[in-house]
Order: sequence, then C-alpha cells, then structure tokens
Amino acid sequence: MKALFVNGSPRENWTTAQMLEKAMQGAADAGAEVEMVHLYDDAFKGCVSCFACKVKNSKTNGLCAYRDALTPILEKALAADVLVIGSPIYFSHPTGPVRSFMERLMFPVLTYNAKVDPETGAVKSTILDRKIACGMIYTMGCPEEMIAYCHYPEMFAETDKFLNMLFGYGETVYTHNAYQFDDYSKYDVADYVEPFRAKYREEQYPKDLESAYELGQRLVQKAKEE
Ligand SMILES: Cc1cc2nc3c(=O)[nH]c(=O)nc-3n(C[C@H](O)[C@H](O)[C@H](O)COP(=O)(O)O)c2cc1C
Repeated sequence: MKALFVNGSPRENWTTAQMLEKAMQGAADAGAEVEMVHLYDDAFKGCVSCFACKVKNSKTNGLCAYRDALTPILEKALAADVLVIGSPIYFSHPTGPVRSFMERLMFPVLTYNAKVDPETGAVKSTILDRKIACGMIYTMGCPEEMIAYCHYPEMFAETDKFLNMLFGYGETVYTHNAYQFDDYSKYDVADYVEPFRAKYREEQYPKDLESAYELGQRLVQKAKEE
C-alpha cells in the first residue's frame, strides 16, 4: 500500500507542508508506505495539448507522453494507492505547479470514448482499471466568512468531481486564516490581522491538523477496501 503526498507550496515547512505531514502520519499509522514530493523542486510544464494520450491505440497507459522533470512524479502518483495533493490558494485557485501537475495527471487517464455500463448505466470516463483514493488539502489566508463569498466550496467540489470520475475517489480538507509570516511587525499589514490569526492558530489549527491526520487514515482505509 503506497501513499504519495504532493506539496504544491513553494515553502517546504509552512502550513501546506504541515497539513501534508499530518496526513502522511495518519496514512503511515494506518499501514501505508509513505512519501512526500515537493513540486517546486523541479521545473516542468502543464499539459502541452499534444493529444498523444488520445491517439487511437495509444500506449501511454495513463502516463503523460510529454517527458520532463514531472514524469517521475506522475509515475509515482499513478502507481500509488493513495494520493494527497496539498496546495495554498493563490487568487482563489491552487498554485500554478499544482494546476500543471493535475492537468498532466488527469488528462491522460480521461478518455474521450467513455463507455456506458449496460446494466447500471454508469459512465466510465477513465482508462484506469484500478482506483486511487485521492485527497486535496487546501490552505489559505482568508477567514471563514470569505470562503463561501469567494466560491471556494464550488471550486473544491469541482476538483473532487474529477478525482472521483478519474480515480474513483476524491475528497477535500482545508485550513484557513493561515499564518503567512513569522514576524508580522516587519510587514505592511493591518494591525488586527496577526492577533486574529494567532487566535485561530491556537484554537482551530490543531483541529485542522487532526482533520488532515484523519484524512490520511481514511484514504488508506478506503484503498484497503478496494
Ligand atoms: C500569490 C499569493 C496569492 C494568494 N491568494 C490568496 C487567495 O486568493 N485567497 C486566500 O485565502 N489566500 C491567498 N493567499 C494566502 C495563501 O493561500 C496562504 O498564506 C497559504 O496558507 C500559504 O501556504 P504555505 O504557508 O504553505 O506556503 C495568497 C498568497 C500568495 C503568496
């Protein structure tokens, strides 16, 4: 049972990485062999629209045909039983490298020749014959009341929908009000921000870390049931 954790933050030990570490602990405690990769360690492209994965009798088998530094990470993700992708929210979306990673992970397993199961009517839009239990972890600076206002739940649900469709399972955990700097006095930020975040960090962040831990455990359990 292999579980891969993908850090889509440029920072390797801040909130996104901390949430991923907790999820990784949860997965390890549930019996998985765990590994973390940091997307910002390498330079790579998003989907280049070559359509090699859509050519008739394509031999790509779900692995993006475009070769660059992302290829080994895509190989690991496709071989995993559990995949957790962590991303900060940048301008209401996952970071650029996460978007690029997900385009190249998802497009080659998406078929344009979906099959309908004659008995159940279910549409199979993936070329994969196995499932990968997927989880998204998002971190963001905004407070709770901004989350709905910015339509983040819709964005989360849309990604979960694709993960479900292509890999068989997808769910989301998030934390907000994230600390952005160690020392707020050095930055040009309104005075009320740091105390507000300090309160959240003390009262709610430990619970969010626990949710990440439980996500790791739950996804391994899910993968074991397959
Ligand atoms: C370029 C940039 C854009 C950001 N845009 C948003 C945003 O749209 N909404 C939000 O809630 N936080 C936003 N943030 C805050 C980050 O999402 C937040 O600090 C996150 O937890 C950073 O993750 P890290 O600490 O793991 O690097 C932005 C930060 C940066 C650097």
